Amino acid sequence: MPAFNISKEALAGTAALGAVALAGFLAGRRYSRLYFGTFKGSSYEKNSQLQQYILDYSLREHPILKKLRLITSQCRHGFMMVSCDEAQLLANLAKLIRAKKAIEVGVFTGYNTLSMALVLPEDGRIVACDVSEEYANIGKPLWKEAGVDHKIDLRIKPAIQTLDELLANGEAETFDFAFIDADKESYNDYYEKCLRLVRKGGIIAIDNVLWSGKVLKPASHDIAQMMHQLNEKILHDPRVVVSMIMMWDGLTLAFKL
Ligand SMILES: C[S@@+](CC[C@H](N)C(=O)[O-])C[C@H]1O[C@@H](n2cnc3c(N)ncnc32)[C@H](O)[C@@H]1O
Repeated sequence: MPAFNISKEALAGTAALGAVALAGFLAGRRYSRLYFGTFKGSSYEKNSQLQQYILDYSLREHPILKKLRLITSQCRHGFMMVSCDEAQLLANLAKLIRAKKAIEVGVFTGYNTLSMALVLPEDGRIVACDVSEEYANIGKPLWKEAGVDHKIDLRIKPAIQTLDELLANGEAETFDFAFIDADKESYNDYYEKCLRLVRKGGIIAIDNVLWSGKVLKPASHDIAQMMHQLNEKILHDPRVVVSMIMMWDGLTLAFKL
């Protein structure tokens, strides 16, 4: 039974694809990957069919996550939402390492925050960093409905400030998981601070590392250049082992040694 109907949401024919691609292009953010590399005919068709297959045969989406996803997809900037299969991968990893403390840098309406909170133990906590209360207010009632709002510690201020406060509070090496998914200009700082906050054996996940494929020509684009430099740095970083996954806009998983 398909749990997710792409055609109704982001892939409803050429018009919807154009709108989503344009929105992604203009904002340079999520879902821009729907057009990179595979715009024409059969390869796009095949990719979208395979993507649908992946969702149909691997997604086990909590009903309230689904509700939040559908609400968010109707919102202005809804394209910024994490993809459901990516959020599921992160939650599975967090569950596997028995994560109790997590950080999310860039919450938006909180799809991934909720997905994480659902797998954290009752006394677990996710520090959710964003500058926009407006977006988070969309997710909050759903966090409550899912019965996990007590695990979500939302901090509305620049994420750098929150990460510095956690460090100043003596919380270095106490987090199990961090997900970086906010303003790309600060990714290097987020990575460095999260690396200090996460314990050995913990995971730092970084989204959008392929930047719609622009990392292949980094000189042509400021953010692509920053992203490429960070990718290169992480590749040689002896503090972590790393996997870069071609999932949506590219996901790096850095496992702290
Ligand atoms: C791509 S969205 C995050 C998507 C989210 N992870 C999800 O599960 O759907 C990026 C978010 O980063 C936030 N953001 C941008 N600059 C920020 C900053 N300096 N500090 C904290 N959050 C920031 C934006 O308000 C936006 O909600």
